[in-house]
Amino acid sequence: MCGIVGYVGAGAPDARPQGVVMGGLARLEYRGYDSAGLAVVTSDRDRVGMRKKAGKLVNLEKELAGHPLEPATAAIGHTRWATHGAPTDANAHPHLAAHGRLAIIHNGIIENFSALRAELQAEGVEFLSETDTEVAGHLLAREVDRGETLADAMRIITRRLEGAFTLLAVDASEPRTVVGARRNSPLVIGLGEGENFLGSDVVAFIEHTRTALELHQDEVVEITPEGVTITDIAGHVVEREPYHVDWDATAAQKGGFPTFMEKEIHDQPTAVADTLRGRIDEHGRLQLDGGMIHENVLNSIDKIIVVACGTAAYAGLVGRNAIEHWCRIPVEVELAHEFRYRDPVVGVKTLVVAISQSGETMDTIMAVRHAQQQGAPVIAIVNSQGSTIAREADAVLYTRAGPEIAVASTKAFLAQITAMFLLGIYLAELRGNKFPDEIESLLDQLEEIPAKIQRVLDASEPVRALARTMADERTVLFLGRHVGYPVAMEGALKLKELAYIHAEGFPAGELKHGPIALIEEGQPVFIVLPSPRGRESLHSKVISNVQEVRARGARTFVIAEEGDAEAANHAEQVFYVPAAPVLMTPLLSVVPLQLFALELATAKGYDVDQPRNLAKSVTVE
Ligand code: F6R
Repeated sequence: MCGIVGYVGAGAPDARPQGVVMGGLARLEYRGYDSAGLAVVTSDRDRVGMRKKAGKLVNLEKELAGHPLEPATAAIGHTRWATHGAPTDANAHPHLAAHGRLAIIHNGIIENFSALRAELQAEGVEFLSETDTEVAGHLLAREVDRGETLADAMRIITRRLEGAFTLLAVDASEPRTVVGARRNSPLVIGLGEGENFLGSDVVAFIEHTRTALELHQDEVVEITPEGVTITDIAGHVVEREPYHVDWDATAAQKGGFPTFMEKEIHDQPTAVADTLRGRIDEHGRLQLDGGMIHENVLNSIDKIIVVACGTAAYAGLVGRNAIEHWCRIPVEVELAHEFRYRDPVVGVKTLVVAISQSGETMDTIMAVRHAQQQGAPVIAIVNSQGSTIAREADAVLYTRAGPEIAVASTKAFLAQITAMFLLGIYLAELRGNKFPDEIESLLDQLEEIPAKIQRVLDASEPVRALARTMADERTVLFLGRHVGYPVAMEGALKLKELAYIHAEGFPAGELKHGPIALIEEGQPVFIVLPSPRGRESLHSKVISNVQEVRARGARTFVIAEEGDAEAANHAEQVFYVPAAPVLMTPLLSVVPLQLFALELATAKGYDVDQPRNLAKSVTVE
């Protein structure tokens, strides 16, 4: 995810602005990025100084060593995680406008950038990059040229922008000002003595100050060496109390959470929202992130095969149910390492979907290559920009979960499910399986999911408390059915990986065909109960399965939908999640199971970020 730093100081122009920004960018490296750059305001009132480079910060450092910048009074810097346009020098931030007088950096996605770009091009503006960000720079320039101050210009343009953004800008003619704005993307202000700071998170400036202020939704901030002015976008001044940051730099990287895994579980509302953001164009068509599979090809496919491993394969199973239901195309989900060895029936009419967080899983890479050799078009659903699978696939739909640092996958899983839903919605629209109003209603329902995930997170203490009592368990079983089955398997996988406890996820209907023999007095069993609003028979059948294991002495813990009055009659404890359309419920029901595994492993004293024997990216077959 992109990182942002801004600085302004009172002293004579010197190297400090550049030093503060480069130091901040180095501390933001953990967020993952593919290019970096900075702009400084020097004694030149017509042009800012700017350097930017694709690749790691070391490339930018070399560029600065070869072409040093002048002493400065203010600076802004950026690490980019590509969304619009490849990670090249030209697409790296900052972007210049007003003939080099203005520089702008941006996190997020400006959803209406195509329309704005067309408007500016019609006025003769030339674009130097493929980014959505450059649009904001030229809009600012237009206002500044009309005589607005940088802060007023920022307020004016944010009214026209749609989507998610944190924007920072400097203007060579206002040498002691940095202006920022935000919507759906964070920006924090750091208060110093005779200097002030901005950062996408506090890590950016924690070395210099621990006194911070949050910028809220749709607010604009102007920092000068003397102070900070916050307004809403209409220009009304907002008063806000600063707070003290008591995290050390390492804790700050984890957003104040004790582990990356816990942070990433809490990132999930944002990961899903970001994966959804700006995807559907004005014709209701999905915007892929790279490559292209012609619509005629997608119209002619008669089968989809998903190839993936582990958690990513479970995301594929959730997506399978949705795509089959919405698009009436048969979907198979195949573990990538099994795929090519069973000589699968794959051809030009088979769409292969490769799901991978890292994009570097060798088993999945080999499956992609095998599919392509058979002539199948391949779409990658990948989190890591520019990774091998993203490059080799014919088209890419990036999950925008941000870097996942904990080895066990959490937020990438939710983002992968979300991306599969987007693919299903797109195919349903393209192939005429759904009317536009049905498509819109599915998208609206998806839009509501992030807030619901947040509610599950906010109500997570009971499942964590239960986990703390279970450190001595030897086996935990998980049952689910329909879309609850992959959730049960994911719950079991998380527990194996993190707490080293034997765990199995079964389809609840399979119980009577064998696994019920495992049930004995006191055996903990988690059950992902289908919604009573779904296929009625499923709810009652799973209730029967719960009764069967209970009758044999199992302790039953049920994940149920809010308002499911029956669940409590069959469980030692029920963990409720908000109601959602049946196919989308995994995005909610898996969260208590992730937290259960996290807390149980923590109670056992294990390192949840780096479980034993596991690697984040499995690059061997
Ligand atoms: C489980 C987990 C793994 C990965 C699997 C695929 O927590 O992280 O099961 O999901 O190794 O990895 P990617 O998605 O990188 O291909």
